[in-house]
Amino acid sequence: MRVGLPRDEGGRLRVIVNNLFLHLHPATIRRGGVKLSYTWCMGGISSFLFVFELVTGLLLMFYYRPTVAHAYQDVVALEAVVPMGLVREMHRWGAHLMVITVWLHMLRVFLTGSYKPPREFNWVVGVLLLVLTMLMSFTGYLLPWDQLAMWAVTVGTNMVGAVPFLEPQGAPPTWLTVSGEPLTGPPGSLRTLLLGGQTVGPATLLRFYVLHCLVLPVAMLVLMAVHFWRIRKDGGISGPL
Ligand code: HEM
Repeated sequence: MRVGLPRDEGGRLRVIVNNLFLHLHPATIRRGGVKLSYTWCMGGISSFLFVFELVTGLLLMFYYRPTVAHAYQDVVALEAVVPMGLVREMHRWGAHLMVITVWLHMLRVFLTGSYKPPREFNWVVGVLLLVLTMLMSFTGYLLPWDQLAMWAVTVGTNMVGAVPFLEPQGAPPTWLTVSGEPLTGPPGSLRTLLLGGQTVGPATLLRFYVLHCLVLPVAMLVLMAVHFWRIRKDGGISGPL
């Protein structure tokens, strides 16, 4: 607002363009493009939920320790002892909601044909955001370290073990030897990399924690910045005038 209160069209434009946060928005937009009936506001709600998850997730990090000895107890304590134990539920429900809203956003973009040129690149960025959203959900699933988490992630990572060509699925081929000796365990694979071993264990918990709290959110932040920048460059939200 350094330019003072906007009194005309030019002033309003300068407020948007000169402000770091507001300049995220295109300087001009189509009236029809921001109609709720057109966008369903699903992109906006997904963005809001992402920030909501960042804030509630950060609060949870003050209480949760990603070790086998502590993880489950910390989550139980979060529900029963910690004041505002509500935060865990807020983070959980926010996550469920975000998965739903991101899918609905993709459906809206598809139904309105907004993936067509010049927006095809932003569609691809969107697909990456969808994959990252699902991965956030999957890595977060393990962190309570209860039976549901253990077995869900066991099933999920076993599916990674079925990736064609990349995964050896079982014993290594007999021709693969080290110093003339055949290998005893399966060679390194995507599944082993994710698990940090052959089964879900302490190393998996730590890996999923780091992915969930650092690697994936940072990747999402970068991609969301690209996503919003592309919306501007592609001439604002598509849609009728
Ligand atoms: C974390 C996930 C995502 C967030 C936060 C997000 C956010 C947004 C926002 C705020 C908009 C502005 C228009 C609107 O609200 O509908 C938008 C537009 C767009 N998004 Fe996303 N999005 C995400 C995922 C996706 C996915 C999964 C796709 C498709 C595979 C996608 C493709 C697009 C395209 C093509 C546009 C331009 C649409 C138009 O101009 O009408 N986005 N996104």
